[in-house]
This record gives sequence, structure tokens and C-alpha cells, in this order.
Amino acid sequence: MTLSDLNQLLTARHSCRAFRSDPVPKEQIEQILTSAARVPSWCNAQPWHVVLTSGEETDHFREAMRNEAMTGAPAPDLPFPSSYSGVYQNRRRACGWALYKAVGVERGDRTASARQMMENFSLFGAPHCAIITSPVELGGYGALDCGGFVTAFSLAAQALGVATIPQAALATYSPFLRRYFDIPDDRMILCAISFGYADTDHPANKFRTDRADLSEIVEWVG
Ligand SMILES: Cc1cc2nc3c(=O)[nH]c(=O)nc-3n(C[C@H](O)[C@H](O)[C@H](O)COP(=O)(O)O)c2cc1C
Repeated sequence: MTLSDLNQLLTARHSCRAFRSDPVPKEQIEQILTSAARVPSWCNAQPWHVVLTSGEETDHFREAMRNEAMTGAPAPDLPFPSSYSGVYQNRRRACGWALYKAVGVERGDRTASARQMMENFSLFGAPHCAIITSPVELGGYGALDCGGFVTAFSLAAQALGVATIPQAALATYSPFLRRYFDIPDDRMILCAISFGYADTDHPANKFRTDRADLSEIVEWVG
């Protein structure tokens, strides 16, 4: 295996925001989960736990999630960023505008941008959703380990032609998720990963994000 193989996977993966409805075979989902679980974690604690929906259960959840997003109050377990400033604000805006341009939302059209944002709560039409949780007692480092799991899940899925999107948006309504899936209080709800096969013709899947130059992210010492 070469770095070029890995880079092919890394560059082919992108966040998918429109899925076909056909399901991913269970054996493939198991392969993705098994691969994702190979990532390192502090003390090999493997803090990730996944609640994973398929079939009609995804559709029931989608409907309940949408309803919650229209009526519920935000209460994430892991506090959301308090602000984005400087380069972080610039990068956030650039990816938001790229999405809006792709789907034809004009800058400043709040109704249309809110409609697009609500697509999060329809899981972008995905046939599967994985809710990722970590033990509260492992704090930020448990969440850090789970971030690795989420990335590896996305790459393993990509290797099988399965598209993914990590979604913190769903964690906005953690109390609802906790009730809906009976998630114990000693686990922190971090994010979801919606996944399935990409609707490659959909405008929401027609743009790609870029990355900062190395000079912006590294300080070489020595
Ligand atoms: C932890 C995490 C949470 C995210 N939450 C959302 C989300 O709620 N909604 C969404 O549309 N994208 C979400 N994304 C996707 C990012 O916007 C996306 O990864 C970023 O813009 C880079 O684009 P790419 O994944 O296509 O390379 C999330 C990504 C991560 C890693």
C-alpha cells in the first residue's frame, strides 16, 4: 500500500448532502465499522459507541428528528463553538457559500438557507444514520478518539463506494436523541454520520472544499 492509495481515498471522500434511498448491505456496514474501530485511542479505551439505523427505522427517526428541529430547543451535550473568528470564520463562510452556490441559494436569502440547513434533519435522504457517543467520564479525550473513529468510518465507507457526512447538527438536540434511542446519561452524544450511496447528479454534491496551505497550519521548529 502506498501514500498515493491513501491520498486517493482522502481526496475522493467528501461530505455527501444528497443520498439515494437504496440501503447499504449489512455485511458492508459491518466491514466499515470494523475498519473504523482500528483507529488509536488513549489507553486503547475505544470510547466510541454507535447507534445505527437502517430501513424503516431510519425513516421514522428522520420524521421525528425533523419535527424536533422545528419545535425543540437546542441543548447539545458537547458545547458548540462559541464563535468562529479570523481564518476559521473565513473557511466556514467559504464552505457555506460554496454549498449555497451549488444549490442555488442567493447570499442573504435566509429562508432558502434555512431550508437547506433543515436538510440536515432529513439526513439528506440517507438510508442509514449512525449516532456516535462517548463516555462522559472520558471527557474531551474520549471525544478526540471518537473524531478519529468518525474519519476512519468515512474513509472505510469511501473505499466501498459508500458516501458519508458527519453531522454535528443532529447533536443540537441531544436530549431528544437520548430519549429517542434510550442513550444512557453517562454517555455524551457527539455527532451523527448519515451514510448511503451518493446521488451524484444532485447539485449539493457538485462542489468540493479546499484546504489551507501547509504554511498556514505548521510551525516548523528545527
Ligand atoms: C465533526 C463534524 C461535524 C460536522 N457537522 C456537519 C453538519 O452538521 N452539517 C453539515 O452539512 N456538514 C457537517 N460537517 C461536514 C463539514 O462541513 C465538512 O467536513 C467540511 O466542510 C469539509 O468538507 P468535506 O467533508 O466535503 O471535505 C461536519 C464535519 C465534521 C468533521
